[in-house]
Amino acid sequence: MKVSFTVNGEPVSVDVPPEMPLLWVLRDVLELKGTKFGCGIAQCGACTVHLNGNATRSCVLPVSQAEGAEVRTVEGLSPDGTHALQQAWKELDVPQCGYCQAGQLMSAAALLERNGSPTDQEIDAAMNGNICRCATYLRIKQGIRAAAGLPATEDGSMEGSAGGAAHPTPSS
Ligand code: FES
Ligand code: FES
Repeated sequence: MKVSFTVNGEPVSVDVPPEMPLLWVLRDVLELKGTKFGCGIAQCGACTVHLNGNATRSCVLPVSQAEGAEVRTVEGLSPDGTHALQQAWKELDVPQCGYCQAGQLMSAAALLERNGSPTDQEIDAAMNGNICRCATYLRIKQGIRAAAGLPATEDGSMEGSAGGAAHPTPSS
């Protein structure tokens, strides 16, 4: 089946089984390897991309459902790594092993695109489904706050500013 959509602004057309997950198409057909496979069952967030601006788990999305859609992957956040989130991630040394971070960035980008000044509660709600085995949750939250131009912590305290690994346990 031929499926046509755009990826990072470029039109693409692929001839693949309609049930093939979008993640497979991105990685194995279009050679966009930034988006990662984690669980394959919509539980970890590693495969998060944007589908028409919404954070979407590409491991469980049949490519047929992307017909006519705008897909954005981590490669499309910016041409040169200068998206505010990417800059904050570098400044705060957010990643540890890095495996989950493309998904983290895409969930964070979707959040900031609909809410440029999120509260910690809103950040937690938006990022809850993105699991990080290295427990970089605190730095991820600080990175999102930095990218939004917010102080390091909601109450202005220095708590956690050394970049430790304290974190809420994701519920999914
Ligand atoms: S690989 Fe898609 S949610 Fe885990
Ligand atoms: S940085 Fe290692 S899994 Fe998140």
